[in-house]
Amino acid sequence: SPELKGGPLSIPSQEAEDKLVIESNGGKEHSTVSITVVGASGDLAKKKIFPALFALYYEGCLPEHFTIYGYARSKMTDAELRDMVSKTLTCRIDKRENCGEKMEEFLKRCFYHTGQYDSQEHFVALDKKLKEHEGGRLSNRLFYLSIPPNIFVDAVKCASSSASSSSGWTRVIVEKPFGRDSKTSAALTKSLKQYLEEDQIFRIDHYLGKELVENLSVLRFSNLIFEPLWSRQYIQNVQFIFSEDFGTEGRGGYFDHYGIIRDIMQNHLLQILALFAMETPVSLDAEDIRNEKVKVLRSMRPIQLEDVVIGQYKSTTKGGVTYPGYTDDKTVPKDSLTPTFAAAALFIDNARWDSVPFLMKAGKALHTRSAEIRVQFRHVPGNLYNRNSGGTNLDRTTNELVIRVQPDEGIYLKINNKVPGLGMRLDQSHLNLLYSARYSKEIPDAYERLLLDAIEGERRLFIRSDELDAAWALFTPLLKEIEEKKTIPEFYPHGSRGPVGAHYLAAKHNVQWG
Ligand code: NDP
Ligand code: BG6
Repeated sequence: SPELKGGPLSIPSQEAEDKLVIESNGGKEHSTVSITVVGASGDLAKKKIFPALFALYYEGCLPEHFTIYGYARSKMTDAELRDMVSKTLTCRIDKRENCGEKMEEFLKRCFYHTGQYDSQEHFVALDKKLKEHEGGRLSNRLFYLSIPPNIFVDAVKCASSSASSSSGWTRVIVEKPFGRDSKTSAALTKSLKQYLEEDQIFRIDHYLGKELVENLSVLRFSNLIFEPLWSRQYIQNVQFIFSEDFGTEGRGGYFDHYGIIRDIMQNHLLQILALFAMETPVSLDAEDIRNEKVKVLRSMRPIQLEDVVIGQYKSTTKGGVTYPGYTDDKTVPKDSLTPTFAAAALFIDNARWDSVPFLMKAGKALHTRSAEIRVQFRHVPGNLYNRNSGGTNLDRTTNELVIRVQPDEGIYLKINNKVPGLGMRLDQSHLNLLYSARYSKEIPDAYERLLLDAIEGERRLFIRSDELDAAWALFTPLLKEIEEKKTIPEFYPHGSRGPVGAHYLAAKHNVQWG
């Protein structure tokens, strides 16, 4: 069965697959997709976008007729673009059959156009080239804005007026950050909507494309054993933890303007929280899911500064090696107070989640790289085993469900278990679903799924403007208060577990970090 090999589990993906087969077999053989990566000379394009497009090509997921254009100001020929992207293309599938041949075929479909982001003339020239490749077929066009946010609107204005499709759809994938607060985000949305309809805008949050995040709804809504427990009645707290074992290397200039709350919490972790906590959607349709997410976000209690801890990493020397502090980065001001770590307690004021702490923790330059969701259940009432066994070694240990988003993707449930033997001793064991042991198929990169969805017009994993407004409405007052009060972050050594303040915050809410 395809499911056992890690194939698509959700109905829309299956439908989408069927649609692709129909497209390539007949129905739409006269259509073509032109994908323009705007900012093709940049880091994200090289690291993620071109490799993801190649993986889709390798897997046979791109339509039969497609063309990829890189667009940026840097002067480059087609051959130079191909040379540049070929260096990162095979990162996921280099050991697979015919990878070299497929790569050659793919590169022949990649072209480059030099242009300014605010030049109608340069986009008109791009349009001309796209038309030549499209060869009179019905043309669909996807623009991926892989550029700094201050030029999003210029590029959209030019792309929509000078290079949009005249016969098929035109869609634009917009990378984060979508503003810095409610005001700037609303202004960006308003500007984009001068040139695009909401359903043409695909705001990407790549965490939504991660396998275990997509699986969250499957876990909840297709297993009878979880959904009945998914409330304040049985869950004591939920934790969303993001940690990186490296600093802001190379991105200090960007990061200092945003900080960890905007970089990770307001988007990636909050999106996961919304999926975790939403009510059952009417269907798996994008609008039904996004309606439920918005409701949860709008039910959240304003975040209090006393429920937040911020930190910043400082230089440390270990084993003769010195690891730099955040402000050692030349692009970061020496007196920067920008948090590289934050922990926060959030609450959802609705019937399902009243009084349950949702703890978030995100940090750079910590001791490990991981992203996980931890669900800590309440104590078993009565505690029979502690009473009857004269005090076992497990007195009040509770169940915990862990969804490990990365690395070593997996789901495990901590249960109390009798240690085999004649005595009655309990310990805590794991019911463990480790993806690498269970599924032979490797896990696609998040960008692959999201690019494919954008091509197919599947909006489920993209952020709608009202979701974005709700997310900013939650975080903007907190960010303003932190910045106005010039709150000093707690300094933590590079490579440590972060500020101790995070433990006090958890203890205040009767929680222990997992
Ligand atoms: P880069 O800073 O590498 O910029 C991409 C390209 O944009 C550059 O190659 C450059 O191309 C052009 N560019 C850069 N600065 C300017 C400027 N001031 N004015 C005009 N053009 C400029 O960005 P990334 O590739 O790192 O990121 C692209 C987008 O994706 C950003 O919005 C970023 O926030 C977001 N993002 C990036 C991630 C990453 O890991 N890199 C992760 C998540 C999101 P040229 O000079 O050739 O025109
Ligand atoms: C990006 C942040 O959105 O996500 C980066 O801007 C962060 O700061 C990155 O490093 C983490 O993504 P991943 O997929 O590597 O966990």
